[in-house]
Amino acid sequence: MQPYIPGEQPQGGKFIKLNTNENPYPPSPKVQQAIRDAASQPLERYPDPLGTAFRIRAAEVLGVEPDWILCGNGSDDILTILTRAFVGESDRLRLPYPSYILYRTLAQLQNATWEEIHFKSDFTLGDDFSKASDDLKLVFLPNPNSPSGTCLSADTIATIADQLPCPLLVDEAYADFADENCLDLVKRNPKVMVSRTLSKSYALAGLRFGFLVAHPEMIATLRKVKDSYNCDAISLAAATAAIDDQVWLQENRSRIIATRGRMIQSLRALGFTVTDSQANFAWCTLPGRTTKPLYESLKQDKVLVRYMNYPNWGDGLRISVGTDQQMDACLAMLAESLQRLPS
Ligand SMILES: Cc1ncc(COP(=O)(O)O)c(C=O)c1O
Repeated sequence: MQPYIPGEQPQGGKFIKLNTNENPYPPSPKVQQAIRDAASQPLERYPDPLGTAFRIRAAEVLGVEPDWILCGNGSDDILTILTRAFVGESDRLRLPYPSYILYRTLAQLQNATWEEIHFKSDFTLGDDFSKASDDLKLVFLPNPNSPSGTCLSADTIATIADQLPCPLLVDEAYADFADENCLDLVKRNPKVMVSRTLSKSYALAGLRFGFLVAHPEMIATLRKVKDSYNCDAISLAAATAAIDDQVWLQENRSRIIATRGRMIQSLRALGFTVTDSQANFAWCTLPGRTTKPLYESLKQDKVLVRYMNYPNWGDGLRISVGTDQQMDACLAMLAESLQRLPS
């Protein structure tokens, strides 16, 4: 099988990293303190297999009960648990295209099939996405989507869920940067689940922590499938401190959204077609022209963005929102490369 290839993580050299949608700012200082405190606890003991302290605090923040939450070793772990639970050999997983490439790998690992429904040019989905079929066992919908940064409304997703014959996972890795999310829909509809990550909006990609919000019967079922100790004691303590610091989250969110607005405006001024984004990145294309040489030129200058080429869709650059200073550097290099490279 083809492996899933994550974005480059250079281990040496000083790069401006705008390729994997990490947060450019360090996490809340309370997280660092929680990690120091957790490191002085008895690490010879296994962690709490259910992450009770995290679930209690997260439940208060999200307005649900703790038994509506399942902790994961990153939200990729949640996606793996769901696929393992629902999609058996020869079953079908549905996902939109273009979207998060890992989903297909998860289907392949199950010896299952997957079906990619193309977004329309305005990044909405047609009726095909909600169509019932006997072998369809799970549907993944990233919202906001990657690489486009676009969102479907909660009302649209409610309609999709009503028509589907199987559970729908709304992957909300980037929802903290969006205007809307599907938490209320989860509360109303047992077929809908939401996954979240602390990698992006809480600036904890290095830690590995994500979680699922779903009805308690679903959570109880999924617990049977997960590794017993899928989250370690340090990440559980840090994640609990992170979700507890909602003031930090809101300040960080506002900063990222302000920089996103400036970045999109500047990219358009340079001649890129940029999709309006509800996430901490933007998708830019150049009409009639590949963006690969720009990616390569930026990389030579130690700026990493994500070059993506989707068969039957086209190519573009997905650029994560960095600090204002990082964006200025990236935009100046793009302007210079656009002038220098043949069109
Ligand atoms: C749509 C989407 N879902 C999930 C993830 C995985 O996040 P995590 O770091 O929590 O595994 C990513 C990471 O880039 C993503 O883009």
